Amino acid sequence: MKEGNVIITGANSGIGKAAAIKFAKEGFKVIMACRNLEKSRVIKQEIMEITKNNSIELLPLDVSSFQSIKDFCKEIQANYNRLDVIIHNAGYFKHGEKDYQLSKDNIELSFATNVFGPFLMTKLLSNLLRNSEDGRVLTACSTNIRHFFDPKRKIDYDSLQGELKDGISYNSYKMYGDSKMALLLMTFELAEYYKNDGIKINAVQIPAIKMSKETIKNFKSFWKVAALIQNAFSSTTEYMADTYYHICTSHDYQDATGKLIDDKGQIMQASHYTKGITQEIKQLSDKRVYPSYAANQENMKRMLELANRLTKPWLPA
Ligand SMILES: NC(=O)c1ccc[n+]([C@@H]2O[C@H](COP(=O)([O-])OP(=O)(O)OC[C@H]3O[C@@H](n4cnc5c(N)ncnc54)[C@H](OP(=O)(O)O)[C@@H]3O)[C@@H](O)[C@H]2O)c1
Repeated sequence: MKEGNVIITGANSGIGKAAAIKFAKEGFKVIMACRNLEKSRVIKQEIMEITKNNSIELLPLDVSSFQSIKDFCKEIQANYNRLDVIIHNAGYFKHGEKDYQLSKDNIELSFATNVFGPFLMTKLLSNLLRNSEDGRVLTACSTNIRHFFDPKRKIDYDSLQGELKDGISYNSYKMYGDSKMALLLMTFELAEYYKNDGIKINAVQIPAIKMSKETIKNFKSFWKVAALIQNAFSSTTEYMADTYYHICTSHDYQDATGKLIDDKGQIMQASHYTKGITQEIKQLSDKRVYPSYAANQENMKRMLELANRLTKPWLPA
C-alpha cells in the first residue's frame, strides 16, 4: 500500500500535520483537505521539504459545510480513480465558548464538523474506497467519551439545530464530548453499512496530545490554563501520527472494522461491567473498555436517522 492515496482532513496543524508527514515519508500521495489555504500552502511546502515527497496536494475543504464537502468530493472524483485511506482528523473544539455556534447548514458546529461532515464525505467517496484493495477510513475519537460511563450522560438530539441558541447556556466542552460519542456511533454504523464492500472503518481513541499555541489560544478562561498544564504531560503529535499510520496500513487491522482502537493500537471492547459501586470503579480504571452507550442499538439508530435526514439532500438520489 506504500503507493496509496490518503486524504487527511485538518492536515495543516497538530496531529493531522504530523500524520501528513508520516504518510508522505512512507511514500503515500497525500491529499491535505484544509479550509485555511493561505496557512496550509506554507505547511504543504514544509511537508514536501521535510519528506522529499512532492506528491502532496492541497484542496480546500470546510468539513462543517455540506456545500464545501460536495465541492471537495467532486474535485476528488474528477481526478482520482481510487482512494486507499481517509482520515477524518479535523475537529472543532473551543472549550469554554459560551455562545452557541452554528454551521452554515444550521447545525451545532461540533456536530457539523466532527460528525455529519465526515458522514457525508465518507458516503460521497465510498465508490473510490471500494476501488482500493484495502480501503480504510479512520475517525478521530477522544478519551472524552469516557464521560459516558456516567449512566445519566446522554446526547441531547433536540439541541443540535439551534434550539439552545437563545436562553439556556451552551456548554461547548459537553457538546464536544457528545459529538465524539456520536462520531463513534456513526463509525460503527458506517462500518456495518460498508462491510460487504471491503471498506474498513474504525475510530481511534486519542488521549491528551500536545496542542499548538494557536489551538490553545482558542480556548477560554479556565480551559486555557488547563490546556497549558495538560500539554506539559501530553504525548507528541508524532506519537499519535504513528498510531494513525499503523491502524491505516498494518496487516494487523486488515480485517478490523467497526472497532474503537486506543492510542497503543489495542482494539477496545464495549464495557461488560454491571451496576454497583465496585463494578463502576473497575470499569473506570479499565482502559480496555469504552462506555456501553456506544454499543446500544437505540443510540445508534437515533444517530443514523439524524445523519441520514440532514445529509439526504446532498447525496445522489
Ligand atoms: N490534541 C488532543 O489532546 C486531542 C485529544 C483527543 C482528540 N483529539 C482530536 O484530534 C484531532 C486533531 O486535533 P489536534 O489536537 O491536532 O488539533 P489542531 O492542531 O487544532 O488541529 C485541528 C485541525 O482541524 C482543522 N479544522 C477544524 N475545523 C475545520 C473545518 N471546519 N474544516 C476543515 N478543517 C477544520 C483545523 O484547521 P484550521 O487550521 O483551519 O483551524 C486544524 O487543522 C481532532 O479531531 C481532535 O478532536 C485531540
